[in-house]
Amino acid sequence: MAGRFPSRATRPIPSRLGGAALVLALLAGLAGPAAAAQEPRADSPEAALRHLATAQGKHIGAAVAPGPLTGEKPYHSTLAREFNEVTPENALKWAEVEPQRGKYDWSAADRIIEFAQRHRQRVRGHTLVWHSQNPSWLANGDFAPDELRGILRDHIVTKVNRYEDRIFAWDVVNEPFNEDGGMRETMWLRKLGRDYIATALRWAHRADPDAKLYLNDYNIMGINPKSDAMYELVRSLKRRGVPIHGVGIQGHRILGQIPDSTEENIRRFAELGVDVAITELDVRIPMPASEQELRTQAANYAQVTEGCLAVRRCVGVTTWGFTDRHSWIPDWFEGQGAALPFDEQYRPKPAYYALREALAPGNGRGRAPSAPGSAAPATAAADSRAGR
Ligand code: G3I
Repeated sequence: MAGRFPSRATRPIPSRLGGAALVLALLAGLAGPAAAAQEPRADSPEAALRHLATAQGKHIGAAVAPGPLTGEKPYHSTLAREFNEVTPENALKWAEVEPQRGKYDWSAADRIIEFAQRHRQRVRGHTLVWHSQNPSWLANGDFAPDELRGILRDHIVTKVNRYEDRIFAWDVVNEPFNEDGGMRETMWLRKLGRDYIATALRWAHRADPDAKLYLNDYNIMGINPKSDAMYELVRSLKRRGVPIHGVGIQGHRILGQIPDSTEENIRRFAELGVDVAITELDVRIPMPASEQELRTQAANYAQVTEGCLAVRRCVGVTTWGFTDRHSWIPDWFEGQGAALPFDEQYRPKPAYYALREALAPGNGRGRAPSAPGSAAPATAAADSRAGR
């Protein structure tokens, strides 16, 4: 592609089977069980979340950790059965892929992406530019602006080039805003100036012109000063012709606190001409979770999913993990947990059935029964911990 960055990273996985090879592989059933198997219809009892979502033109995804993916059969089988999209939870973060400057370790990310390819799941890349989980050589390097600019450009080009054709969308900049809508004081802002976001988007676009480029943040599910700031930024970027294709609404929520303005907020972003994705949904509960709290959680999951279904350019919902056995919540919010659709024994919870019902064929695009207390906005303090 004209003006492309030269790719410096080897790409060990063929990015695409050639046509004839693919046909042969399919015939021989070598392209993977899912590829060869007939997918159940959405109205059949065998339909899983991924089949229901596909029938609605949406994706249902989950954040994935490499350890349980290879170490736990139920993790592997549930992920393959239920989801048609994955996001590496940590494996593509800077600290994980370049722990020492110039020394890359793609092994964990490759494992997740190979799994996704085998199970016909598309992959969201998370993330290119963030204030957290940067390797210490970078976070503590105190680099001069020009050197930091070169480091960031190399990082973006190397990562995006490596997974070109295998990662369909990138969270190019993660969590650029404060709760009040001001720009977060990161080293990127301090050293590269306010336009670091546009610059990062342009670099990513040149590295892979086909990738969908997102800005991603938490506590922007409803209409509030932070989502207003994201809205104004996206509107300005679009007006300047900067390559921005989507907004990621993370969705780390407190039980019973899904903003009433969720659907309206999704719609207003879509009306800017970008896709919207719920990228990191989980609904945390003070432990031990009661039956009523699990029902409230189910209504919360349904409300978010209904909000996405109601807006054509909302492309789907990703949960941040899918089993309570592997969730970031207990480590970060003492005494809280049970945030995901499957429990610690991989049994589906009411939230799972609520997702099924919301995604079911012919389901009205109206609002799910709102749960008690579902109107209250999440507290900024609680959400600020969600993103640190
Ligand atoms: O990889 C190291 C490992 O080598 C080391 O032995 C171990 C013990 O310290 O730590 C491991 O790193 C941990 C990493 O997860 C991978 O497991 C970090 O300590 C831990 O802080 C990190 O937590 C992640 C958190 O982001 C960091 O901010 C969570 O798993 C992850 O779910 C969470 O995800 C973020 C999204 O990326 C952005 N949106 C908010 C969301 C929740 O914070």
